[in-house]
Parts: sequence; C-alpha cells; structure tokens
Amino acid sequence: MATALITGANRGIGLEFCRQLQARGDKVIAVCRSDSAELEATGVRVERNIDVTDDRSTEKLAAALGDIRLDLLVNNAGILQRTPLDELDFDVLRAQFEVNALGPLRVTRALLSHMAPHSRIALITSRMGSITDNTSGGSYGYRMSKAALNIAGKSLAHDLAARHISVALLHPGHVKTDMTGHTGNSDPKTAVADLLQRIDELTLATSGTFWHANGEILPW
Ligand SMILES: NC(=O)c1ccc[n+]([C@@H]2O[C@H](COP(=O)([O-])OP(=O)(O)OC[C@H]3O[C@@H](n4cnc5c(N)ncnc54)[C@H](OP(=O)(O)O)[C@@H]3O)[C@@H](O)[C@H]2O)c1
Repeated sequence: MATALITGANRGIGLEFCRQLQARGDKVIAVCRSDSAELEATGVRVERNIDVTDDRSTEKLAAALGDIRLDLLVNNAGILQRTPLDELDFDVLRAQFEVNALGPLRVTRALLSHMAPHSRIALITSRMGSITDNTSGGSYGYRMSKAALNIAGKSLAHDLAARHISVALLHPGHVKTDMTGHTGNSDPKTAVADLLQRIDELTLATSGTFWHANGEILPW
C-alpha cells in the first residue's frame, strides 16, 4: 500500500486528491490549516494546524509522521490574490511568494527524510507561472510566485535524482474551486484523475518536467 501526503487538503483539488487516493487503496495523510466536514467525512488521517509558511508547523508535521515513509508528496496548498499593476500591494505579492513558492520548498525540506527511495513529489503549480505562456500580463503576485516554484521544482529534480526521488510540476487546468470562484472548464474530479495519471507515469527520466494535467508539456 502506497502512502501519500497532501497539503491544502480541506477543499478543492487537495480534498479531491485525498478522495481519489483513498479510493484506490492508498494510505492518505491529509494536511491542512483547518479541517472541513468534507475532509472529516473521508475518514483519512488528518494533520491539522499546519501552515506551509511556518517553519514550526512543518517541523511539527515531520515529527508527527514518526517513522512513516512517504511514496508521494503532493504540494498542493496555494493562494491567488489580485495584484494588477495599478493596485500593486507588495505585502499581497509577498504573501503569494510565501505560500506558493516558499511553502512547497519548506514542506519538501521538512519531509525529505520521510521520502521513500523511488518516491515522487508533485508540485501543483500553474501555467500562469509560464513566461512563454504569459500573453495577457497582470497577476504579478501569482505569476511570479508560480514561476519561482517552477524553477525550485527543476532544482529539486536535479538535487533529488541521486536519492531516486522524482519531481513533477503540474498545472491542473482551469478548475472549478473556491480559488476560481467555481468558474473554469474542468472540475476537481477530472483534474485530479488526470493529475494522478501524470504522477503515476512520472519517472526519474522525466523528472523536472512541467505538464498540463492533460499530458501536454508546458513551456517555461
Ligand atoms: N483551480 C484552478 O483553476 C487552478 C489553476 C492552476 C493552479 N491551481 C493550483 O492548485 C492548487 C489548489 O488550488 P484549488 O483550486 O484547490 O484552490 P482552493 O480551493 O482555494 O484551495 C487552496 C488550498 O490551499 C490551502 N492553503 C492556502 N494557504 C495555505 C497556507 N498558508 N498553509 C496551508 N494551506 C494553505 C487552503 O487552505 P485554507 O482553507 O486553510 O485556506 C486550501 O486547502 C493551488 O496551488 C493552486 O495555485 C489551481
């Protein structure tokens, strides 16, 4: 039985990861700041009060795992806040860096000693972090933080290869969740089914690739 840990697990894409991984028989550790009735209803193990921007939180999470070995770490927690050029607020920009770029790196570092050999790390990024794909501007905080996550993911892929740990950078699509005000052309069920296919196909040879959930390789 594989063991998977998911951040941002109380709603949206993270909650759906918990549901689908549990349904296929994996052991799931759901990590969140605060619980939700939907997450409780899954019956998976829940680690609460974990903020990905806080070192003490992630160290507490690592300690709570004891001798558990993870086969999959899904760094999913993220935020999207408005930062158009004419309303730039650098605190709002910085907050997105803390959660979207530094958060996944902090969680990964804290849990590294728990990663099994041949395990996988999924970084849920966004094509809004693609420089080539930026055809509309704006969204400074979100775009910059996800671009930073992308380069961190590429470095992790290099640095963890010797430990046989592979890393995928994954764009879920435009998914109907709280983040998007439930707009979009995909739903969490479809997006996560596709994301799990990408994760299952991930190898050391393909580690460090930036994929759309649909399998398309995205440009940096
Ligand atoms: N939906 C889309 O179309 C889309 C597109 C591209 C990429 N993504 C990415 O997909 C991921 C999941 O997004 P979603 O659509 O499911 O959004 P969502 O419904 O807004 O969920 C975001 C999750 O992140 C958690 N989170 C936020 N800040 C956190 C922090 N400081 N510490 C710990 N957890 C924190 C939230 O927990 P709380 O309830 O505690 O706030 C929530 O569980 C994000 O990384 C997002 O950038 C989504």
